[in-house]
Amino acid sequence: MTEQVYLSGAYLPLADAKVSVLDRGFLFGDGVYEVIPAYYGRLFRLEDHITRLNNSLNGIRLPLPHSVADWEAIFRPLLADDRDQYIYLQVTRGYAPKRDHGFPEQVVPTIFAMCSDIAPFAGRVNGIKAVTLDDTRWQLCNIKAITLLGNILLRQEALDQGCAEAILVRNGYVVEGAASNLFAVLDGELITPPKSHEILPGITRDVILELAAAHNIPYQEDIIALEALHNASEIWVASSTREIVPVIELDGQQVGDGKPGPVWKRMDDLLQAYKTSLS
Ligand code: PDD
Repeated sequence: MTEQVYLSGAYLPLADAKVSVLDRGFLFGDGVYEVIPAYYGRLFRLEDHITRLNNSLNGIRLPLPHSVADWEAIFRPLLADDRDQYIYLQVTRGYAPKRDHGFPEQVVPTIFAMCSDIAPFAGRVNGIKAVTLDDTRWQLCNIKAITLLGNILLRQEALDQGCAEAILVRNGYVVEGAASNLFAVLDGELITPPKSHEILPGITRDVILELAAAHNIPYQEDIIALEALHNASEIWVASSTREIVPVIELDGQQVGDGKPGPVWKRMDDLLQAYKTSLS
């Protein structure tokens, strides 16, 4: 069967899904997106993803009337029930008759959704190397904008240095990864930077904090100085598609004993059990 995608009201084969070169997503990166995992056909934390989508849409002044049920109805035909997948959803400010930075008078958003398999990420069990880099992104990192050039350049710089993720530094503090949220174990306590315009409020991050609270794992949302991160006994990066990934080497130095740590193991077990409990 040809892969079907959703584009502004219709389901069609991926190869037939086309948008105008005047679409503001193409010309300006004027849009937002979501990545929503679905385990064996069950969308994970859909309400939370849609709440974040609505925050992103409000952040770019493009609110949509869709309810959670409307979105679920759009995604459902794209999903298989025999494997782990994710929905990629993108909303742009749509086609405008001419290129102009100001918003067009009439806006018809372009809504695109496709479904892909989640490829197991070996780094999740083996650990990864990471490098700290200056956060060169913009000031509105809480918006899940499709304008990802900053993130892409930072991730590529990490890859070029033989690392799987960049950990981003602002004013001497680490904030998040190029495509992940950041956790550290400092003096036995799990720490993650607080929500602000400097980070994307990750859904995986929320789940981790909920699991920590429910299972008496001491945690705090607090700023983390770069120097403190270098002394952490564990470092993790977390996202919907890779889940919780232990960092075993940072800036060429071993983290802890250079293996995924015990707090990561506990949290990874809790997350896997939580996912299973939902199916
Ligand atoms: N990115 N921070 C950034 C900058 C991200 O791009 C992501 C995820 C996260 C984690 O958010 P969540 O737990 O909701 O996936 C944090 C997705 C996976 C992507 O761009 O493909």
